[in-house]
Amino acid sequence: MRTCLDPAVSSIVRGPHSPAGAGAREQKMTTVPIEALADLERFPIHVPGTGPYADLVSRCRQELKETGLLELEGFLSPAACAQSVAEILPVMEREGYMHSRSHNIYFEDSVPGLDSGHPALRKFVTANRTVCGDRIAESIPVRLYEYPPLRAFIAKVLGKDRLYLMEDRLARVNVMHYRSGEALNWHFDRSEFTVTLLLQAPHSGGLFEYRTGLRNDHDPNYEGVAEFLSGPDSLTRRVRTSEGTLCVFKGKNTAHRVTPVEGDRGRMMAVFSYFETPGVRFSEEEQIGFYGRAGPPGSARRSVGQGDRA
Ligand SMILES: [Fe+2]
Repeated sequence: MRTCLDPAVSSIVRGPHSPAGAGAREQKMTTVPIEALADLERFPIHVPGTGPYADLVSRCRQELKETGLLELEGFLSPAACAQSVAEILPVMEREGYMHSRSHNIYFEDSVPGLDSGHPALRKFVTANRTVCGDRIAESIPVRLYEYPPLRAFIAKVLGKDRLYLMEDRLARVNVMHYRSGEALNWHFDRSEFTVTLLLQAPHSGGLFEYRTGLRNDHDPNYEGVAEFLSGPDSLTRRVRTSEGTLCVFKGKNTAHRVTPVEGDRGRMMAVFSYFETPGVRFSEEEQIGFYGRAGPPGSARRSVGQGDRA
């Protein structure tokens, strides 16, 4: 399928000197179906109720259970990744929100029962730039986020009845860009699961590292966390994610980070926010804190925590 579809997709990555011009490019961009951008032959998420679908769900559940990390390598085609970066990078350069902050692994100013000087509260720096979904509403990542079979499939793998889009046009899809020296540092997620799509991998650095077994819902293991933060141990796993990989990660009790990017090719990743209930959105305060601006007001307001938006 990939070989057959690449020429079709490559038609949407024409440069600005293409005779068809930018207008035609935009039109093409919105008409190329998701089925032509993702490798649905290897990952038949669009045909529930079939044997291949059931087999895929079974494999994914097993991988998630064993490692806490599900990777659908090559889910988005190379041409679609290139097109996504070409669409989004100019927006990133123009209005990406620069975020740089010092934080501990809990993303909390203080933790009840822990002295402020406790080594489990050691601080690290996270820095990146973010583009919100409302600025790239017609882009491939946002269209993929909204593609109903994808969220139905992820719900199935996670054993949930269904998943809903976030009702927040800023936060529903965030694209993060890490340049040389920038990183997402050690943290635990607040959300049960995270869905990401790597659009561009750096030449060096930018590796995903995670360590399971440090804590659980019943035991925070602060001493173990402190020891881990003094220097990652042999149980820390390191993954070089390839472009086009769709990941589902259960990071609530798994410490994880992305190591600093090296070189002039940045790491660009989309984060998809799905929820088990409809109507979830950030408060205005949260939007301003994460993005430096607030989006259009909505009827439902509910704080959902910051997850991977540090
Ligand atoms: Fe995270």
